[in-house]
Amino acid sequence: MMLDQSQVRTALASHYDLAPDVDLAAAMQSTYDRMARVVSPADWAIYAPYVKAINDLKREKNAVILGHNYMTPEIFHGVSDFVGDSLQLAMKATEVDADIIVQGGVHFMAETSKILSPDKMVLMPDMDAGCSLAESITAAGVEEMRAKYPGAAVVSYVNTTAEVKAASDICCTSSNAVQIVDAMEGDTVIMTPDQFLAQNVANQSRKKVVFWKGSCIVHELYTAADLRAYREMDPEVKIIAHPECTPEVVAEADFTGSTSGILDWVQHHQPKKAMLVTECSMAANIADALPGVEFAKPCNMCPYMKRISLEKILYVLHTLDNQVEVEAGVAARARLSVQRMIDVSRQLGL
Ligand code: 13P
Ligand code: SF4
Repeated sequence: MMLDQSQVRTALASHYDLAPDVDLAAAMQSTYDRMARVVSPADWAIYAPYVKAINDLKREKNAVILGHNYMTPEIFHGVSDFVGDSLQLAMKATEVDADIIVQGGVHFMAETSKILSPDKMVLMPDMDAGCSLAESITAAGVEEMRAKYPGAAVVSYVNTTAEVKAASDICCTSSNAVQIVDAMEGDTVIMTPDQFLAQNVANQSRKKVVFWKGSCIVHELYTAADLRAYREMDPEVKIIAHPECTPEVVAEADFTGSTSGILDWVQHHQPKKAMLVTECSMAANIADALPGVEFAKPCNMCPYMKRISLEKILYVLHTLDNQVEVEAGVAARARLSVQRMIDVSRQLGL
């Protein structure tokens, strides 16, 4: 059971020296260099003891940390062994040679790792790190859609619970959704749970796409009018959006892609100014590697992703609390949906 923050701090203090440490921070300069533009020296002196303790403990316990692109820079650069978008992290979960996976991300990502690596221990730094999309649909919702559109294949976004994956025919992520939908048999495909991803896919797919009406509380906040106003103020800016945004927002963007697709685009094109229409940590994580790019505000924060902290990562690695479990029958059926997605993605070279 997870304790509150002060209990976690007290529990850790008796095992680790976690006081801010300027000398340790200096000794770990090469790690700091990857985030120096966005993390102050004072903050780095606070983070460094946690980063060291976590990295030592990972070696001791043969653990790896899979860090999503929305993790804050000290987690992304300081302790993650692999970073990426949802598809890349799911694929990595099938390959890592470790006893323990700590998920730097939200709960559905940890469930996906457990589904794909049932023999490994999967730890969630905070069990309440959910996702508005995953919470928007249950397996009964999938059945409701099947009854409404008999015979249509169900493609569920990985941002869903294991039960929903188990009730679906195949999964998709933002980086392969169009290709997965196009690979389905029949004229009509059901997409759950993201209405905006589904509409964006429909605009590029040969299929008729019908959808569940979930949405991401981070990406639905952006409006096309705001982006137009921003571009008018600053015509040089390149606008790069995630496909969880509305189709109107996507239509205003210079490029749309998964979180890794966005990072690759910015790294490849190196625009003078970039507005990443997605979660705030994305720009922060590449700011140091791209000193010539000015990242425009605003951005929106994912309150679920932001529940993950160095302190909670250290706590679960130390205690092995918050182990993610998926009931065997559900896991077996969910694995089929996720594995089908991975197989199609590999075949298509995605
Ligand atoms: P990606 O698959 O693009 O990393 O997206 C995951 C997510 O939750 C975006 O909000
Ligand atoms: Fe879910 Fe949106 Fe947060 Fe991604 S950004 S984890 S889709 S709530």
